[in-house]
Formats: sequence, structure tokens, C-alpha cells
Amino acid sequence: MKVFQKSTELQKYLLEINELGGKSVGFVPTMGALHEGHLSLISISKAKTTTTVASIFVNPTQFNDINDFNKYPIQIDLDLELLLNAGCDVVFIPSFEEVYPAGTFEKIDLDLGRVGSILEAANRPGHFEGVIQVVKRLLDIVQPDVLFLGQKDYQQCCVISKLITHFQLPVKLEIADTVREIDGLAMSSRNMRLNTQERQSAIKLSKALFHIREHLHEQDLSELILEQKELLATDPLIHVSYLEAVKQVSMEPLDILKNNTPMTLLIAAKVGEVRLIDNILISSSQTLKIPEIKEV
Ligand code: PAJ
Repeated sequence: MKVFQKSTELQKYLLEINELGGKSVGFVPTMGALHEGHLSLISISKAKTTTTVASIFVNPTQFNDINDFNKYPIQIDLDLELLLNAGCDVVFIPSFEEVYPAGTFEKIDLDLGRVGSILEAANRPGHFEGVIQVVKRLLDIVQPDVLFLGQKDYQQCCVISKLITHFQLPVKLEIADTVREIDGLAMSSRNMRLNTQERQSAIKLSKALFHIREHLHEQDLSELILEQKELLATDPLIHVSYLEAVKQVSMEPLDILKNNTPMTLLIAAKVGEVRLIDNILISSSQTLKIPEIKEV
């Protein structure tokens, strides 16, 4: 496994290995503190491309809360070991100056529209602007054929899809299922900040999502959402910021619910001091895979 800190060296290496052509590069951007969710993206990339590049960069511009940034877990040595064991080919660990050299720090000029103003965007002003800024920069450096993202960050997928479409970036977007702990909690680097009690409470977020999906055929969606919000509010450790269903892909509000409206149910909540997000897809068959979010 090759590790690079400089983009010029990374680019030189990728050019060298593709001298004869026929290679495809898969890219998995991360902020480190890796878990099985990240590693699932590595194995999907390995199955679908010939060279897998992962990046580790805790991007300050996407944190609207300085405390969240300061507390973001950093474990580079362990991450490198995990990536090596997962069979990752190349790791890019740039410095701040490498990602944002003088002159490349300005915001990307792209109106994200609805996906850039609701839910996560409304609760974390500036967050997605920071995400598209860093992802555009990383894509420009790595120039992958396929970009692998996790459905865990559903709205981020929609936003990055919009970035790719807007700038006509020559990269295919692949979205992987959310990897969960055995009790249903979506894996997240932030989970390690939960204490034992908070960890117990955190299970209730995914439980609420699954409960709503299971009972949708017998009860009204808005009633189910309200009930689950009330239930979550009885736990003093949980503060829900939203629990909402939107149309898949466009993330538009749901009008009258038709049985076959493919939707996504999203939740964000603080458990203790730790902000967690999760989502599930709901469709008539309930087996729908997230479509490639190209047309957002
Ligand atoms: P990070 O939170 O480290 O996540 C990196 C990638 O792993 C994202 O595509 C995310 O959706 C995916 N991921 C996280 N948890 C997952 C899980 N439980 N199952 C499957 N995939 C999961 O998302 C970011 O970093 C940053 O915003 C980034 C895109 C790197 C830009 O800075």
C-alpha cells in the first residue's frame, strides 16, 4: 500500500501505474477514524475498479461547530493498518496547505438549491459548502473513474451528485448501503464519543426509523413520525433535530403519500453531546436500492 502526502507525488504514481491504460481508479474520501462502514466502501471499490485510493483529511471548512472539529477523533496509524488489511492500494493524507494552497480556498460557486438548504444544511450552516469545496478539490487531485460514498450521509450524496452534474466531472458516483452495528446503530466515527448510557440511547434512532417503515402499511406516516418523535423525547439524553420523510433523490417534500412513492426517512439527533444522523429508504417493495443520484 502506497501512502502519499503530496498531490504531485500521488498524481505521478497514478499516471505511472496507468501507463499502458486499462486501469480504473476508485476513490473513497474519508475523514479517518475508520470503521467497517468506511471499509465496506474500500471493498466495493476493490471489486469494481483496479486501483483503490482512499483519502484521510479532516476538512475544517465543513465543520460549523469548532468543538466538533476539535473533538473529531484522529487515529492515523490505526487507520493505515485497517486500510492495509482491507487491501487498499493507495492512501492520500494531505496537509491543510496541500488541499487548500493559496488561491484555492474560495467557496465553490454552485447553488445547491433545496438539497443545500433543508435538514442537515439548515442545521449546519456552511457544512455542505465545505463538503463540496473539499470533494471538488480532492476529485481534481485524484481524478478517479468512480467515487464511492455511503448512503449513511444521504444528503451529502445528493449534494455531491449535484456537484458532479453541475461541473460535468468525469466521474461515476456509486452509493453503498449503510453498515450498522448488530443492534442497528449506524456505524459512525462519532459513536466512539458516546458513553455507555448514551450508546444505549443511540440505538433508539435507528429503531424509530425501522418502526416507521414496518408500520407504514397500517398507519399514517405523519402520525408514525409524531409518535416516534414523542417517544424519543422521553429519553433525556436524546434531542431530535429532525425526523422527516422526503422524496428520494430530489429530497422534495412528500405530498399525498402514494403507496409507491420512493422516499427516504432521515433523522438527526444529539445523544448527549454527540450529533448523530441516520436514514433508511422506503419504497413499496422496501427492497429498492438507492438509485444513482445523477439527475438531482
Ligand atoms: P466520513 O464521515 O469519514 O465518511 C467517509 C465516507 O464513509 C462517506 O461517504 C460516508 O457516507 C461513508 N460512511 C460513513 N459511515 C458509514 C456507514 N456506517 N456505512 C457506510 N458508509 C459509511 O463523509 C465524510 O467523511 C466527509 O464529508 C467527506 C466526504 C470525506 C468530505 O470531507
